[in-house]
Amino acid sequence: MTDTKSTESSPQQRWTAVDGYIAEHLLPADAALDAAVADSAAAGLPPISVTPNQGKLLQLLARMQGARSILELGTLGGYSTIWLARALPPGGRLVTLEAERRYAEVAQVNIARAGLAELVELRIAPALETLPQLVDEGAGPFDLIFIDADKQNNPGYFEWALKLSRPGTLIIVDNVVRDGAILDPDADDPTVGNEGIRGVRRFYEQAGAQVEQGSVSATAIQTVGAKGYDGFALVLVEGTG
Ligand code: SAH
Ligand code: DHB
Ligand code: MG
Repeated sequence: MTDTKSTESSPQQRWTAVDGYIAEHLLPADAALDAAVADSAAAGLPPISVTPNQGKLLQLLARMQGARSILELGTLGGYSTIWLARALPPGGRLVTLEAERRYAEVAQVNIARAGLAELVELRIAPALETLPQLVDEGAGPFDLIFIDADKQNNPGYFEWALKLSRPGTLIIVDNVVRDGAILDPDADDPTVGNEGIRGVRRFYEQAGAQVEQGSVSATAIQTVGAKGYDGFALVLVEGTG
């Protein structure tokens, strides 16, 4: 009997290989992005940045949006920051929020090496502290907001994102599928469920309520790839609620 198992690939191996194929054809080599990945890994940062194809999607969405101002929650090593900031026109601005000083220091180097230090402002503090400051400063409205920090705080982040939006702002939320764990029956039980999953489910409820009011239009897309099975939500802020 021939053992085909050893040459068959698992779904995850296949998703990773296909991500590679897509990148090979469509994503030109980029020394600054490669260096950001390498230095983030060398510094021991968790390997949870967006994939190259997803980074490019963020960049294309920012360009389609004509974004001149971008807000990011969750910088990590600045990988998604670089993709997004490269979509900005001269004079554009990206504010990115990170709680971990050590990650932020790695990010600052990565961003500077990409030649984006002038466009990017990195604020080191828990995002729920920085967001009200941004409102007080009149820093908004932003054209695009990328929510990709700790998932249990997604409900608060989404509320602040709406306050920092205008009609036409695009809010993108990462990690809204989590291997399908958002459907776990225990997800809403605080004694059992995972806080992050609860935060994601609360976000869907909030966004759904906004959809019903007509104040946003939204969808979520499931994705597979090198970083597994997950998804992102797109929320377009409408004229009035
Ligand atoms: N956007 C990045 C990945 C972010 S990972 C990329 O794709 O390249 C999530 C980040 O959120 C981590 O760096 C984590 O330290 C940060 N984070 C966690 N809790 C936070 C908080 N309360 N405020 C701001 N950032 C937080
Ligand atoms: C995690 C966070 C992310 O932003 C991500 O894209 C994947 C995983 C995490 O905290 O596990
Ligand atoms: Mg993420």
